[in-house]
Amino acid sequence: MRNSRIIGAGMFVPPKVVTNDDLSKLMDTSDEWIVERSGIKERRYAEDGVGVSDLAVEASKKALAQAGLEPKDIDLIIFATLSPDYYFPGSGVLLQHKLGCRDIAAIDIRQQCSGFIYGLSIADQYIKTGQSERVLVVGAEIHSCGLDFSTRGRDVTVLFGDGAGVVILAPGEAGKGILSTHLHSDGGHFDKLWTPAPMACRHPRLSHEILDQGLHYPIMDGKFIFKMAIGKFAEIVEDALRANGYTLEDLDLFIPHQANLRISNMVGKKLGLPDEKVFNNIQKYGNTTAGSIPIAISEALEQGKIKEGSLVCLASFGSGLTWASALIRW
Ligand code: UT7
Repeated sequence: MRNSRIIGAGMFVPPKVVTNDDLSKLMDTSDEWIVERSGIKERRYAEDGVGVSDLAVEASKKALAQAGLEPKDIDLIIFATLSPDYYFPGSGVLLQHKLGCRDIAAIDIRQQCSGFIYGLSIADQYIKTGQSERVLVVGAEIHSCGLDFSTRGRDVTVLFGDGAGVVILAPGEAGKGILSTHLHSDGGHFDKLWTPAPMACRHPRLSHEILDQGLHYPIMDGKFIFKMAIGKFAEIVEDALRANGYTLEDLDLFIPHQANLRISNMVGKKLGLPDEKVFNNIQKYGNTTAGSIPIAISEALEQGKIKEGSLVCLASFGSGLTWASALIRW
């Protein structure tokens, strides 16, 4: 069976920078609290009316240029986001149209922080089975329009930012590319990080009560998620290495989903990885959910932290709950 490999990567974040001090003018928070608890210094917010498909178009253009491809060369789009442009249709078809692709399949998936690795895994299967030749996988979010900017929402709001990352997958030689993916879920904890409303099965879907109670904003049990994330991140990195006969010493770079700098540091220590092998950019962008790993891949490539032959492990944990890893030989 053939392998799939990443032949191009691109990222796009909106130009508007929002600092911790900017947020402290809107709610009871401070730069000191946010930096100490999360490592985040600033994040990007899109202008009103700019959707995830718009961010994805810009990131896709960069990934296509790096791969030396045109939009017409893509034969499948997989779009991971929890913040689609519309309730329906999904953002995949919008990207297909805005980018100028042929009338190819466009699959929208959720899976929140693990959305990108789930997407990568689906793309990998399409390539392995010979169904697709050039797959564009997107992770993108616009969080800024869905956050509670009052003190009530400060624990969640300060963490999140907008952004998009894209990779393009193509068939590759054996022993290179995506070596394996490992996907997990546990819906028993769905309400540890979720947005309660609007619910599709409640009539009316939106009401003044929902808006007054702020049920349309994300709610998180931060301490629960934090503790569980440390264990699961370490577990899935070890699973990925073991499945391919590697050890932690073989790993060149660990790219964790950017949820909290403290989580990444603690997982790195738990695994015994030196700091330079753990990639972090949450300081600049906050948590961009499905966007965080492909944005990190783009930056790691640009900074020369991923080279030809590097062994790279991607890992995520978040809402769902979902957690996932992917081991890649570049
Ligand atoms: O990508 C999805 C996965 N998400 C995550 O992995 C996030 C996991 N969780 C976390 O990153 C952390 O739990 C947080 C950063 C959300 C919170 O850090 P913490 O150290 O767990 O703080 P805490 O929730 O225990 O809150 C400590 C205090 C509380 O005040 P009291 O009760 O001690 O008086 C909070 O009300 O900090 C208060 N607080 C804030 N203060 C200033 C909560 N948010 C803020 C804020 N600014 N933004």
